[in-house]
Amino acid sequence: MPSSDESPRVAIVTGAGRGLGRAVARELAARGCQVVTCSTGEAGPGVGEVLHLRADVTDPHAVDRLVEATLGRWGRIDVLVNNAGYTAAPAAISETTDEVARRCVETNLLGPLFLLRRVLPGMNASSSGGVVINVASRAGITPVPGLAAYSASKSALVSLTLAAAKERPDGKVLFVSICPGGMDTDMRVAVYGEDDARRQLDPLRVADLVAELATARTVNGRVVRSGAAVLVTKDAEVQVIEWPPDERGHATLRH
Ligand SMILES: NC(=O)c1ccc[n+]([C@@H]2O[C@H](COP(=O)([O-])OP(=O)(O)OC[C@H]3O[C@@H](n4cnc5c(N)ncnc54)[C@H](OP(=O)(O)O)[C@@H]3O)[C@@H](O)[C@H]2O)c1
Repeated sequence: MPSSDESPRVAIVTGAGRGLGRAVARELAARGCQVVTCSTGEAGPGVGEVLHLRADVTDPHAVDRLVEATLGRWGRIDVLVNNAGYTAAPAAISETTDEVARRCVETNLLGPLFLLRRVLPGMNASSSGGVVINVASRAGITPVPGLAAYSASKSALVSLTLAAAKERPDGKVLFVSICPGGMDTDMRVAVYGEDDARRQLDPLRVADLVAELATARTVNGRVVRSGAAVLVTKDAEVQVIEWPPDERGHATLRH
């Protein structure tokens, strides 16, 4: 979807040093977006045109600096992909440490909220609106035993997405959660090992869906309503859950 003035869309992608975030940043750049990325390290997505900054999304001041740098360079933000995420190796709730519990909530919920808080005023004021894609997880829809803190923080992120959509019922800013199943990334290797990771979804498949949402507001060619959760199985099948805007009836599974 072009901006109203037909200039390239400006996108922020968090957690783009590796894995899905790196693939999303590369795909958005390939589709003509101006992309600004962050991660906790110096390594960015490795694409020349992408501006990479070191920023920890759990630090609101770092988030402010990331947004200021993007606005300073491009003057606006059309797309926000809250991708940075964290989980530890599986453990029962009784064995979950303070650090793991806090880090799950801070990275997977508070980070996206800090970004949203800072980016939304500009999107709301823009005549072309914007797109916010929160990378949750299937674990946020169907919690995984051993990953309770992670699952709960991702459910909360799905809820944050819907709450944001309800704040802006005209749909001018599109809010979507994307909920992939297991992907072949460092995170999966750290949690379940190399052999398991190699059997999971290629993050490039998910990056393609995220880029389609960000640029066309569709998945596989179908328009997605604000507040929806897009589930992706490990075989790259897509289901979209939409909640009725008036809160009557049940969530509808669309395609
Ligand atoms: N892999 C899966 O099976 C799977 C399944 C469903 C959903 N997801 C979700 O998909 C997203 C991407 O996961 P992934 O598998 O690509 O993860 P990954 O391989 O572990 O990469 C995570 C990226 O996020 C960055 N990051 C982590 N904490 C950060 C923070 N506080 N501030 C800024 N950047 C931070 C990391 O930075 P550095 O590079 O500097 O370390 C890294 O670039 C996450 O939200 C994850 O929960 C993953």
